[in-house]
Amino acid sequence: MIGKLLADGNNRLRELGLGGFMEKAAETGSVLKITRNYLDSLTIETRMMDSLFACTEMTIFGQTFSTPVMTAALSGLGAICSNPMVEMAKGAKNANAVMWVGIGTGEELEAIIGTGAKTIKIVKPYKDKELVFEKIAEAERLGAFAVGMDISFFFGGKKEDSLIRPELMGPKTLDEIKSFVQATKLPFILKGVLSEQDARKGLQAGAAAIVVSHHGGAVLDYAVPPLKILPRIAKVISGEIPIFVDSGIVRGTDVFKALALGASGVLVGRTAMAGLAVGAAEGVQKLITGTNEELRRVMSLTGCPSISEIDPNLIWS
Ligand SMILES: Cc1cc2nc3c(=O)[nH]c(=O)nc-3n(C[C@H](O)[C@H](O)[C@H](O)COP(=O)(O)O)c2cc1C
Repeated sequence: MIGKLLADGNNRLRELGLGGFMEKAAETGSVLKITRNYLDSLTIETRMMDSLFACTEMTIFGQTFSTPVMTAALSGLGAICSNPMVEMAKGAKNANAVMWVGIGTGEELEAIIGTGAKTIKIVKPYKDKELVFEKIAEAERLGAFAVGMDISFFFGGKKEDSLIRPELMGPKTLDEIKSFVQATKLPFILKGVLSEQDARKGLQAGAAAIVVSHHGGAVLDYAVPPLKILPRIAKVISGEIPIFVDSGIVRGTDVFKALALGASGVLVGRTAMAGLAVGAAEGVQKLITGTNEELRRVMSLTGCPSISEIDPNLIWS
């Protein structure tokens, strides 16, 4: 259903010189291939009899959305269209989906939240703790739905970019994360968890959710595919807090596999960019609702009436 939209969007991104986001990753770039191959190695059994048309609603932090497919914590994207993150937010809102946003100014965050989209703000792991506290307080003041940090990003970034300067970022201690959690009334989310150890520490810190992610392969070459480690992380988290997943999720079947293996929802980054490139807010909305309809179809064909009833045994590796 979304095949043509994705193909057109990816072509447009290449024309705009943004193809690199789709194809390149850290060092050899192997991580994207490994992640895709792992997703493709997972197959799905069917359960047709007594099945129902599935409900794809997701409830998090007390609010219900039409879909577990959310726009990832992106940033920049000015080459695609004007006010790209605001267009992204309008698309998410119209799809009744959660909007995430990464690095950016307070003015941009205000405009994003002004669209009415429920917005999760991800703050960079700045070395300067006071700057982190400021960004968290700003997100709370502006009415963000939740706030968090991409803890994996302290070695990433491009030197020429004025906003993302690697020398400004650093690894965070458990105590620092605890202090961020305690600094806000908002749910605090750890993005970039890719081990049982960090999942355990996330719980200790009081995180309200985690995102299992290798940042689209941008941080560590040969990083383990998020869905490969997800079942182990889900065992550690043991239902205490929601687990979200990103990195390489493209089609409804990918979403289904993530949900079956322990996720409550997924973030789509580069595919949301493809939607944006084709039709701004409308393109993003079509991308989210199209992916969600694919998910509904898979759930209906596998006898899963709701997200919480997706059985991990449906997945064959
Ligand atoms: C252009 C671009 C900008 C991004 N900016 C951020 C950011 O500021 N903060 C963040 O946490 N993640 C950022 N990400 C990472 C995404 O949130 C996501 O983790 C990653 O793209 C993997 O998902 P995907 O495979 O669906 O693209 C960015 C990704 C892209 C492609």
